[in-house]
Amino acid sequence: MKKKQLKDDNYKLSNIDQVKVNEILDKYPSNRKASAVIPLLHYVQKKSDGWLPVPELERVAEILDMPYMKVYEVASFYTMFNLKPVGQKLLQLCHTTPCWLRGSDQIEKSIFDTLKIKNGETTHDNMFTLMKVECLGACVNAPILQINDDYYEDLDYKTTKELLNKIKTKKTIKPGSVIGRKSSEPYEENGNKNVTK
Ligand code: FES
Repeated sequence: MKKKQLKDDNYKLSNIDQVKVNEILDKYPSNRKASAVIPLLHYVQKKSDGWLPVPELERVAEILDMPYMKVYEVASFYTMFNLKPVGQKLLQLCHTTPCWLRGSDQIEKSIFDTLKIKNGETTHDNMFTLMKVECLGACVNAPILQINDDYYEDLDYKTTKELLNKIKTKKTIKPGSVIGRKSSEPYEENGNKNVTK
């Protein structure tokens, strides 16, 4: 069967580092190159403004000697791969039960009030995209907002607004718990102090 031609000749492929690609491939047996599909997609997405256009998926397929459709199946299954452009700051808001019980609706409202974007939307200046996602695996410090690669924890309406305004004004933000909780230690609701002796 003739191979389907998908290539877009006008697209300029992102600059990937062959040494880094080889490092990824070297972790898997040479006759099992397809095993590297997820780490390679992560790497290429990082180099490609945070999303994976068709030519980038084709390139991954070529490197791994896989059919394009198999690469597409992986990229379209996992929510961490973006098949549409995203803003410079990708806000992934967890809305699974523990985060929801701890106020993820208020975080969503704070994001809307501050940036005027809803789920799946990007701000006009292309700075922020909001995506609601399922459990980010940090329920113990719920509610959680992931901004690019970092987690921001124990958020509420006010602290989310402050966080976003800091990003907008190019101030430094510190990942982790915004109430100063160490790791996942317990804390007192009134006073926000760690209670571990
Ligand atoms: S439910 Fe939000 S991190 Fe698990």
